[in-house]
Amino acid sequence: MAVLDIVLYPDDRLRVKCTPVQAVNDDIRALVDDMVETMYDAPGVGLAAPQVGADVRITVIDCSEPEAPSQLRVFINPEIVHREGSLIWEEGCLSIPGVFSNVKRSRRVTVRALDRNGDSFDLEAEELLAVCLQHEIDHLDGVLFLDHLSRLKARMAHKAYKRSLPIHLTRMEERAKKRAAGADLTPDSDADAPEAQ
Ligand code: NI
Repeated sequence: MAVLDIVLYPDDRLRVKCTPVQAVNDDIRALVDDMVETMYDAPGVGLAAPQVGADVRITVIDCSEPEAPSQLRVFINPEIVHREGSLIWEEGCLSIPGVFSNVKRSRRVTVRALDRNGDSFDLEAEELLAVCLQHEIDHLDGVLFLDHLSRLKARMAHKAYKRSLPIHLTRMEERAKKRAAGADLTPDSDADAPEAQ
């Protein structure tokens, strides 16, 4: 397993409509494992394959509280098959560090996907998990949470991103050096709010 580099906005790889996984094989499972490690390292509550530069429809999500038992879920070729209600939730994205904004989403969704064994399952989700699923499935279609903002809010978000990006890049460089020196890194807890995805 390996911690992969997270692709940062406005990289074109975040704008790709990703390709469905044809067969859930060992290569796919290796990518899933690396994505899980990368998500926990960031730390974030969700990560989609294009965020590590992979053009495939895979996302991993763990919305559990930091000290609570893991609720890791793997979604391969996920599809939203039902939506209900609406809510406003403050979202952040590991590819757009330092930017948080309220986004309107469905309150409940049912998602159909394959698990890491290639078996199909349906999952009903609400609140944070539902928000996270919508955010991640958007990523698989090249859509970012910024795209859901009003023009004014999007402009504010861009300004915030311009301010925070140099700080983020410096922090990432320091972590890369420490990792290269063999240091055992704890997740970069002060880098982003824990709900970035
Ligand atoms: Ni994201």
